[in-house]
Amino acid sequence: MTTATPTSSDDAVKAHGGPPAGFPDVATLALLANEFFHMLPGAAGGVSPELPSGVPGFPAGPQSALPAATPAGVPGHGAPVPTTSPGGIPSHGTPPRLTPSSTTPTGVPDHGATGVPAADGRAGGIALGVPEAYAAALPTVATPPQVPAPRSPYYFLGESSAYTAYASQSQPNAALDDRVTAQPFSLPGASDLRSLLDWDTHSPGPTVPAAAPSTDPRFYFLDPAGTSVGSVPTVPQSAHPPFDVHAIRRDFPILAERVHGRPLVWFDNAATTQKPQAVIDRLAWFYAHENSNIHRAAHDLAARATDAYEGARSTVARFLGASSAEEIIFVRGATEGINLVAQTFGTQHIGEGDEIVVSLLEHHANIVPWQQIAAEKGAKIRVIPVDDSGQILLEEYRKLLTSRTKLVAITQVSNALGTITPVREIVAMAHSVGARVLVDGAQSVSHMRVNVQALDADFFVFSGHKIFGPTGIGAVYGKKDLLNSLPPWQGGGNMIADVTFERTLYHEAPTRFEAGTGNIADAVGLGAALDYLERIGIENVARYEHNLLVYATHGMQTVPGLRMIGTAQEKASVLSFVLAGYSTEEVGKALNEEGIAVRSGHHCAQPILRRFGLEATVRPSLAFYNTCEEVDHMVAVLRGLVRARR
Ligand code: ALA
Repeated sequence: MTTATPTSSDDAVKAHGGPPAGFPDVATLALLANEFFHMLPGAAGGVSPELPSGVPGFPAGPQSALPAATPAGVPGHGAPVPTTSPGGIPSHGTPPRLTPSSTTPTGVPDHGATGVPAADGRAGGIALGVPEAYAAALPTVATPPQVPAPRSPYYFLGESSAYTAYASQSQPNAALDDRVTAQPFSLPGASDLRSLLDWDTHSPGPTVPAAAPSTDPRFYFLDPAGTSVGSVPTVPQSAHPPFDVHAIRRDFPILAERVHGRPLVWFDNAATTQKPQAVIDRLAWFYAHENSNIHRAAHDLAARATDAYEGARSTVARFLGASSAEEIIFVRGATEGINLVAQTFGTQHIGEGDEIVVSLLEHHANIVPWQQIAAEKGAKIRVIPVDDSGQILLEEYRKLLTSRTKLVAITQVSNALGTITPVREIVAMAHSVGARVLVDGAQSVSHMRVNVQALDADFFVFSGHKIFGPTGIGAVYGKKDLLNSLPPWQGGGNMIADVTFERTLYHEAPTRFEAGTGNIADAVGLGAALDYLERIGIENVARYEHNLLVYATHGMQTVPGLRMIGTAQEKASVLSFVLAGYSTEEVGKALNEEGIAVRSGHHCAQPILRRFGLEATVRPSLAFYNTCEEVDHMVAVLRGLVRARR
């Protein structure tokens, strides 16, 4: 992500149109605050409360040892502008507290409505990352004027929605509550859009019914009782209620964050997804109750940790439709998974004159490892072209397949364009010439049902962090016989059956490919993420997101000068674009200043952008917790940019 935050507090003030009327200027505020702090008992030289030692995340010692501000770009901490929350509470005016954060009726810390946790409060504005002048000026002690509490503690509900203004700009007559779920099929021009983006084979289900925003404070899946000592946090077995995006949003605490004084809009899901409380709790539970190395020790915690880790492997196997957990290897992520296959299958099966077929859509992670093995072995890379919509040209692909083709490496969803590729056909065609197929599922698994056996993929890789799980964990699926025929790629503990100085005997898959201590806790967290998604229902997710994508496509097409990059009939999540008169960095920065996180740049997929004559795009990417209001907000900002340079 290359978007920048304002380089100084003054820039930030300008970017936001300055403080509210009647609000003193920065210098006056700083002066007043410094005078105030000088009057405090024990104060010397301005603001210098001692930072208590042992506060997680903060170095011990006096505050003067801390930087005056966190680096620009730290979400939620870089905005110095005193703004007003939807409920009318000055968003930077909440006094730092030494008491725990207030809680919602669910017991969840209510960060969005009441500020940061107590530890942050001890360091005042400095620890919050507010640049110095504002940090000094913020009412760290003074009580803000009494204002009625918002009816809902959540940013996105009812009267406290920050989006009312944006919504009325773009759809003046629409009632907010009528647009809280994706409803593209009631929009003008919807039938055209529907035919443009119809997933007739992928998501044939009915339109998601519009649901009123829920005011039920319970999480969907978190059983508060399940977090008490004595049981692993699990999701209840009860049937899922109708898809309610607002209830789902409450499962993701970070969605209540504010950035530049605005509610966070997370449209950078193709880069990484946010984590539900179920995953956060599961990780905490692991470290609090189960932490141990696995498979090695004759004690209870080793058994708990091993059960949890192997349980997660079974969950991944079930989620992907693998025939057994032995077909699942834990790795750091999709990139490491592809490298594993290149270093094992590639080393064993690719030789001089052989060919590896990739598509023009591939992420660099599905290009570079194959280039490396090709260079090592004297093999060639062949590239499947795409049409102007960004879809694979199957007939061109057919022409590339020969007896020299040893491997086809293909993405299921393009991270730069969102194209859903015809993977099943691609696999079948590769198999017809005896080639194996690796499917890169990094961008697909969170958006659609995947069944590796139905696809007949030989290898399938994905990353946990792109499917609501932790970073640093992912998985490789491989057909069992194939995996067991391959050499290990890294040597070490765990993966051996027996070692002498003369020779080593290896375990079968998956442990043969898991040398050393793996990322145990995050594997367990990934299992929790998949369980969470299964409770919502991946088909529900796919339908909702499809509708939201259509809605967003429609909205973006109304922005003059906006060119969508990637218009395949079958798409998921991604809305890449360029805007006439603006660099992608400028657009990303403008969106960021409104709290909207998108990626701008080449997305680690330079070949496909160059196919469209570009080096960069702006890339909003959606997940099932995004809403039509958020889309409206983005479209309104883009329209504002266009107006500004007319
Ligand atoms: N592969 C990730 C993306 O597309 C990082 O943004």
